[in-house]
Amino acid sequence: MPVNLRTLFKKKEEGKKISMVSTYDYWSAKLCDEVGIDCLLVGDSLGTVVKGEPDTLSVSLEEVIYHTKCVVRGARNAFVIADMPFMSYQVSPEQALENCARVIKEARAKAVKLEGGQEIAETVYRLTRAGIPVVGHIGFTPQSINVFGKPRVVGRSEEEERKLREDFKALESAGAFMIVLESVPSSLARELWENSKSIVIGIGAGKYTDGQVLVFHDLLGFFEDFKPKFVRRYLEGAKLIKEALRAYKMDIEKGEFPSEEESYG
Ligand code: KIV
Repeated sequence: MPVNLRTLFKKKEEGKKISMVSTYDYWSAKLCDEVGIDCLLVGDSLGTVVKGEPDTLSVSLEEVIYHTKCVVRGARNAFVIADMPFMSYQVSPEQALENCARVIKEARAKAVKLEGGQEIAETVYRLTRAGIPVVGHIGFTPQSINVFGKPRVVGRSEEEERKLREDFKALESAGAFMIVLESVPSSLARELWENSKSIVIGIGAGKYTDGQVLVFHDLLGFFEDFKPKFVRRYLEGAKLIKEALRAYKMDIEKGEFPSEEESYG
């Protein structure tokens, strides 16, 4: 059955957890969809994961539209959320309305995700009033990497705690139906979640949330170089793929591929 806002809020009410995966293409979206993952986020993490950039800042609106179209084709039931890239919504609510409308109309995403709290509240309000479901994203926000300096936990100081509470409230009041908390101490995430009306999704925010999100390539172990504390690997993907590639190379070099059966008579 297709996932929508009603079924997502029903899950929250019933205390059932929501699963979300960041995906960027048809194939990974289809696999997630077939096992019943609730939401697919076309994350701007595609900057690092797909493009090999050091951060998410160079991702363009056209790239998000392209990857969202691919994911939507693979998502029969999953709820597809498109991540709005850096500077595609911060300039003004009008700019945000125009760009988010493209993501909904051209790429057929069901919702958009925006990073930020109080500073984007008016934009969130205008988007929701225009009929575009909005996901907020606070805590560590990768588009502000040049302010943070490096990925880190946000909300350890009293000042950051206070700001997170205010940002959360501002997003809820503006109409964000879902809020992602990234790299937030679990006690603070729990407090925000326990008083929430919006759906709360965590990544590095502990287990007291309505659900969790991880990047497809992280949870399947496609990256060997670095594993953030909050990532659980469900597969040693890179190791398995390399083994297969080595075997393929070896078979070619030994003249064992292709065999008679793999050749046309
Ligand atoms: O870009 C992304 O994939 C994200 C999630 C990890 C929350 O923002």
